[in-house]
Amino acid sequence: MLPLFIRSIKFLIGAAFVGVLGWALLWTVVDTVQNPPAETAEEAMHHHPKELHLASNGPLGKFDNAQIQRGFLVYEKVCASCHSLNLVSFRDLQQIGYNEAEVKKIAKDWPIKQPVQDPKAGTWGERDNLASDRFPKVYYPGTGTPPDLSLMTKARHDGAAYVYSLLTGYDEKPSAEALKHFPEFAKPPEGMYFNPYFANLNISMPPPLTGDDQVTYSDGTRATKDQMAKDVAAFLVWTAEPTMQRRHSAGLAVVLFLLIATGLAYGAYLTVWRGVKH
Ligand code: HEC
Repeated sequence: MLPLFIRSIKFLIGAAFVGVLGWALLWTVVDTVQNPPAETAEEAMHHHPKELHLASNGPLGKFDNAQIQRGFLVYEKVCASCHSLNLVSFRDLQQIGYNEAEVKKIAKDWPIKQPVQDPKAGTWGERDNLASDRFPKVYYPGTGTPPDLSLMTKARHDGAAYVYSLLTGYDEKPSAEALKHFPEFAKPPEGMYFNPYFANLNISMPPPLTGDDQVTYSDGTRATKDQMAKDVAAFLVWTAEPTMQRRHSAGLAVVLFLLIATGLAYGAYLTVWRGVKH
């Protein structure tokens, strides 16, 4: 008697749960169909990064040192007044093709100096950068906080393409249709700029690349805005993972080794089992 009762109680409780969940699901669906959620400003205006083809893309990608050097020039002349690069040392620049003397000169001439504390007086002074120093931290008095750029292309989805799109995205204004729904974007708040690639659409970074020929490339490449944005993105791919090329070639060597090892193992298997019925 009792077991039957307990068994039916179990079914009743189960049925009640299923009933409540089914009811909730039904009304959620009905409600979503009747009152669809309003479109957000992000849906109306945010853009995914544009395509960017760099030599370093893909599993066999290699660094293009000429492009990375151009990107470093853009960083030096344009971005470095606001953004630090605190995980990179001056001497790391040798990896992208500068020689020791050039690196020493770049470090010495760098406008932001290294802070040093006088151990006796406790006061702060500064000295020139050495090749072994990291790029110094930057004090930025304006609106917003410029993040360190060392790992930026790893910190954002589709990093290099994102940096490229962000830098070239200031000209893209919201469509008239989108503005009708979100009129506040016609006039961003004081000290902010509309940029459809930035997650919350208004960014406190003033457009850093404003026109062509903002820097002069020594290799004869024309410094258009688009080119400068691409080059600095390529440079930031290198700062985020300077060992990428080594990782790619190590990966290739491992895959080749495994292929050969598989062939050898198969050969050994055939030899060992030759003549044995299996
Ligand atoms: C006048 C100062 C200034 C200059 C010059 C500048 N930036 Fe910025 N940058 C900022 C500020 C401020 C922010 C923070 C923006 C925010 O969070 O609203 C920022 C943010 C960024 C971000 C992060 C966006 C994100 O997704 O969080 C990137 C990437 C960036 N800058 C790249 C660059 C590059 C590359 C250059 C050089 C071509 C450059 N910036 C030049 C001030 C500057």
